[in-house]
Amino acid sequence: MAKIEYISKANVVGHREVFEGHYETRFEEQYIAKNAAPGNFVAIRHERGALLPRPFSIADVNNDCFSVIYKVIGQGTLALANYREGDTISIKGPIGEGLFSFDDCYNPLLVGGGVGIAALNLLARRLVENGKETKMLIGAIDKSLLPAPYLEQWSDMGIDVAFSTDDGSSGYEGRVTELMDESLRDNASDKVFVAGPKPMIREAVRISMEHGVSGQAAMEAMMACGMGTCQGCVIKIKTDDQGDWEYKRVCKEGPVFDIDKLVFD
Ligand SMILES: Cc1cc2nc3c(=O)[nH]c(=O)nc-3n(C[C@H](O)[C@H](O)[C@H](O)COP(=O)(O)OP(=O)(O)OC[C@H]3O[C@@H](n4cnc5c(N)ncnc54)[C@H](O)[C@@H]3O)c2cc1C
Ligand code: FES
Repeated sequence: MAKIEYISKANVVGHREVFEGHYETRFEEQYIAKNAAPGNFVAIRHERGALLPRPFSIADVNNDCFSVIYKVIGQGTLALANYREGDTISIKGPIGEGLFSFDDCYNPLLVGGGVGIAALNLLARRLVENGKETKMLIGAIDKSLLPAPYLEQWSDMGIDVAFSTDDGSSGYEGRVTELMDESLRDNASDKVFVAGPKPMIREAVRISMEHGVSGQAAMEAMMACGMGTCQGCVIKIKTDDQGDWEYKRVCKEGPVFDIDKLVFD
């Protein structure tokens, strides 16, 4: 397992708006790039905004660089979006012991929406590298919020990509989980991987269980310490089939959990 290290000065080597309100920032940081696994995240601490470090999935790695994809929703993400090439920033990572595991599947189905695409992107790369017949379903409210550059990139990688918009402005009209339901009816997938807004995860989990397909989901929670000490990021995880559960830390035992263990209140 990768040791978590604080990097005091990671160089920003790229920044772009990738689709409406969503940005990709690339950092040069060899340790994180070499040790990142799908599901890992980094905690970014910056001097220009939020006090506490903010967690972001490691969206991709390339040689000594890694990238994050994010939506600006508050002080921390706004500060991050203002960094440019040549700037430096404090980063801790890779974090998380609960990671995506895909040795046990041949035909994975990835389902995502919103900034969940960040966690799925590195997973998609590793699945393709490992010869898995990968299908990906992405949902958005409307066309402007579809991650167009990534849809193209995943298709170019040989992934079977389909997408939906709630208003029908592009792709299937409706929820991505409806596409997922249809896809699983064909019995073509043997494991699902989900990342995105909580209601989407909840519905995707319900559908997977209904079809008897196992899977994993990348969970989010508000975080403070990001290192397993404050208990601020706990979620309920089943301990048996009788309804018993215990708290697990998203930053430590997660962020990825088996879908049949998730408890949605
Ligand atoms: C493991 C993990 C991985 C993540 N990966 C990504 C990623 O790849 N890309 C990305 O854009 N975001 C990701 N997030 C969420 C990201 O950390 C938050 O968007 C960010 O911390 C917000 O910081 P801020 O200072 O801009 O907003 P704040 O000012 O802290 O918050 C703005 C609003 O968003 C709400 N909020 C903040 N964080 C969360 C959260 N985790 N869950 C629900 N509501 C929240 C707050 O309650 C507040 O209403 C991830 C979170 C976790 C836990
Ligand atoms: S954020 Fe402190 S234990 Fe997870």
